[in-house]
Amino acid sequence: MTKPTLLQRLPLGQQADSLARLEQDFEVIQLWQADNQDAALAACKDRVVAVVTGPSTPTPAEFIDKLPCLKAICSFGVGYEHVAVAYAHKKDIQVSNTPDVLNDCVADLTWGLILTTARHISHADRYVRAGQWGHGPRLPLATKVSGKKLGILGLGRIGREIAERARGFKMDVRYHGRHAHQDAGWPYEPSLLELARWADFLVVAALGGPTTHHLVNRAIIEALGPKGVLINISRGSVIDETALVHALENGELGGAGLDVFEAEPKVPDSLKQLDNVVLLPHIGSATVETRWAMVDLVLRNAQAFAKTGRVLTPIELQT
Ligand code: 8YV
Repeated sequence: MTKPTLLQRLPLGQQADSLARLEQDFEVIQLWQADNQDAALAACKDRVVAVVTGPSTPTPAEFIDKLPCLKAICSFGVGYEHVAVAYAHKKDIQVSNTPDVLNDCVADLTWGLILTTARHISHADRYVRAGQWGHGPRLPLATKVSGKKLGILGLGRIGREIAERARGFKMDVRYHGRHAHQDAGWPYEPSLLELARWADFLVVAALGGPTTHHLVNRAIIEALGPKGVLINISRGSVIDETALVHALENGELGGAGLDVFEAEPKVPDSLKQLDNVVLLPHIGSATVETRWAMVDLVLRNAQAFAKTGRVLTPIELQT
């Protein structure tokens, strides 16, 4: 019996293993390997039923329209702003992401950023390497973390893990989001502005995409204030980066720890000049264990679709 066709648009982990697993259920077209991708796509477009994709290979409506038999899109990563999910759903196409398996690593990295930014760890490391210890000017004193106030924007799966870890730091936690979660163990703050006024540290853990675009604007950054620290581990689009740079350059914000940026991999040069800013290249989920688990979940989604007609972790859009 002929196997259904799956279009793989990006390499996945140990490529040979992933391919072997996909080939158990599908004829696999490895699009990124083709010299002429347009021609390769044209040759298989009328039989592709499933697509494996990710943030580096966006899936807008125009791409979906090229594949008349498409029934499932299996995306790598928990964020899905690169896929036209609502459009896919309208066409009865399922879309899966890779939730939960990365919660711990992203939350761990968030705490790494909180500590590194507040306690000047990167700056201190640069200071030692530059031979300034005992010779140059003293390092400025840092900011205490334990016992402070932590505001979280977005108490989803990752936001909750971040909040859980705050217990060890004896911190007071509040959160803001589109709505309060009845089962959350932390107080809901209905106004993001009030949360920013209250917090010493504001962590952005909200979903990316148009609904959260520039939610953290100039007013929010000013409310966090010259002693406040802003952390972003979700999407660069949630923060108005121009306003952030302006506030940092003018001493209107105490510091920032950023794993994500508006136009990755572009990072504003002005941020690189500042010692109260920690810059990471979007590595929230980048551990061997978690990346393996993410690849595995993409493959299990594709496999479940082949065997049952349903993906395992479908994206359900909230209204
Ligand atoms: C990934 C992420 O590193 O899951 C997500 O949404 O942002 C990260 O875990 C990214 O998707 C890979 O490029």
